[in-house]
Formats: sequence, structure tokens, C-alpha cells
Amino acid sequence: MELVIKNLHANGGDKEILKGLNLMIKSGEIHAIMGPNGTGKSTLAGVIMGNPKYDVTGGEITLNGEDVLAMEVDERSRKGLFLAMQYPNEISGITNADFIKSALQARKKEGEHVALFKFVRDLEKSVKELKMDPDMPHRYVNEGFSGGEKKRNEILQMKMLKPNFAILDEIDSGLDIDALRIVGENVNQMRGEDFGGLVITHYQRLLDYIDVDYVHIMMNGTIVKSGGKELIAKIDASGYDWLKTDLGIEEEVEEKKRIVLGACAVKETKWDNLS
Ligand SMILES: Nc1ncnc2c1ncn2[C@@H]1O[C@H](COP(=O)(O)OP(=O)(O)OP(=O)(O)O)[C@@H](O)[C@H]1O
Ligand SMILES: [Mg+2]
Repeated sequence: MELVIKNLHANGGDKEILKGLNLMIKSGEIHAIMGPNGTGKSTLAGVIMGNPKYDVTGGEITLNGEDVLAMEVDERSRKGLFLAMQYPNEISGITNADFIKSALQARKKEGEHVALFKFVRDLEKSVKELKMDPDMPHRYVNEGFSGGEKKRNEILQMKMLKPNFAILDEIDSGLDIDALRIVGENVNQMRGEDFGGLVITHYQRLLDYIDVDYVHIMMNGTIVKSGGKELIAKIDASGYDWLKTDLGIEEEVEEKKRIVLGACAVKETKWDNLS
């Protein structure tokens, strides 16, 4: 299976956030996306999953050649896409167990039902593997959960739904050091021929546990550099400024300044290059 994103443009309100983004993830691969705050990482995740907050203004997303952008959110989920949100929602009145069971039921053909005994056994096993409180499945979805508990709960859903492609948006934020290892290891366990992952993170520490194949750097609404794990260490040590210089990316403010300075700045650059 493959998830292919081509020349994706999207707006949030009047603001253009994604500006021609390309990405391809195949089953069996885990990709990481890193990038400064506000560059559009969560927007990308939301657009893939169909969050109505964003308007897609150009480009395409396909899953095995099928047009994802034409699908409703629930259809995207049934086709195997999953999003662990940066800020998970609370759903009052629905227990975790019911929520997950309904999602599994929605994947069944008409007339088929989730096998209750197997479901309970799988759920208990997953709760144990995530070292969550055994009570968690019976509480309302995320209601009153701590930040870290919410993040673990997203991974619980992922383990139960077994998606073909999972996007994990800052699953590491708010996790204590033990939870980070537990979550990282559980994500890594998903690795396999039928699983592709997109892990959005700011820090190397999560990627110490998840074995990623590719790393992409996102800036200003597009992927500006792709490579392997060596990029993670470089960013952890040096931040993003070196990339801006390397790629000639200028901040929007600098861009305006440059236009004002006009020919003068150009001349200066030329002399600099000669010396
Ligand atoms: N409806 C909107 N109107 C205007 N700007 C918006 C809207 N929605 C999002 N934005 C802006 O788009 C930019 C991208 O947001 P996004 O949440 O995708 O960033 P991010 O890369 O996930 O950042 P972080 O690392 O902080 O999570 C931000 O500057 C945000 O304020
Ligand atoms: Mg974000």
C-alpha cells in the first residue's frame, strides 16, 4: 500500500499554510517529520484525515491510487488511515471501550460483529502493554485524563484499530520519560509489512525508540529536506538555522526587508561573493 501526497496546498482560514507539499509513504516504512513551530505539520495531519478546519486548494492525496480527498472522514478511517492528535478531544458519555468497539464494528461487513471475548482480551492486553491503569477502558474518552494519559490513549486506539497508515502528531509531548519509552516501543512494535507511519516530533528522544527510515524537514508549508536518521541528530544539536542558510530560505520579514533594500542589497551580495 502507499499513501501519496502531491503538490498539496491548503488554507486555514484566509492563510495559506501548506504550499506545495510532496510525500510518499509505503507500507513497511516509518517516516518522521520535524520542523519549527507553525510550519504546518498539524495542518498536514489534519488535511490527510479530513479535518474540515482546512480547505484544500490544490494537489492530491491518494491511498493505493484512491482519491483520499474525496472521502468522508469515517471512510478514510475505514480505509486504514489513523491520526493520533496533538491535542486529543474529550468525549463525554462514551467509554473508551465502547468508542474503540464502535470503530472496530464500523470496519465490519454488514451482518458481522466484533467478537466480544476477543475484543476484551485484546483491549486488556493493549492496556497492559501501555502500562495504563486497568480502569482506563471504562472511563469516558479522555475525560479528566492527564496530558500524558491522553497521549497513551491515542496509542491504545491505534493498537486496537491496527491502521495501515498512522499519523502520530507530537505523541511525545507531555510524556514523562518512562511513558516516552513505553509509547515509543509500542509504536515500534507496529512496524511490519502492513503498517506505514508518519511521526511528527520536535525531539530526537522519541526517535531513540522508534526506528524511522526517513526524516523530512518541514518549513513554511513544504518539505525542504529529506534524508535519514542523521538529520535528527543534526537538528537536535544545531536547530534549523543552518538549513535556512543552506537552502537560502529567508523569513517572511526578511523577504520584505530585502525588497525594500532592492538593488543596493543585490550589489552588496555581489561584492561579498567576489571577495
Ligand atoms: N484558521 C486559521 N487562520 C489563520 N491561521 C491559521 C489557521 N489555522 C492554522 N493557522 C496557522 O497556520 C500555521 C500552521 O499551524 P500548524 O498547527 O499546522 O503548525 P505546526 O507545524 O503543527 O506547529 P507546532 O510545531 O507548534 O505544533 C500556524 O501559524 C497557525 O497559527
Ligand atoms: Mg502541530
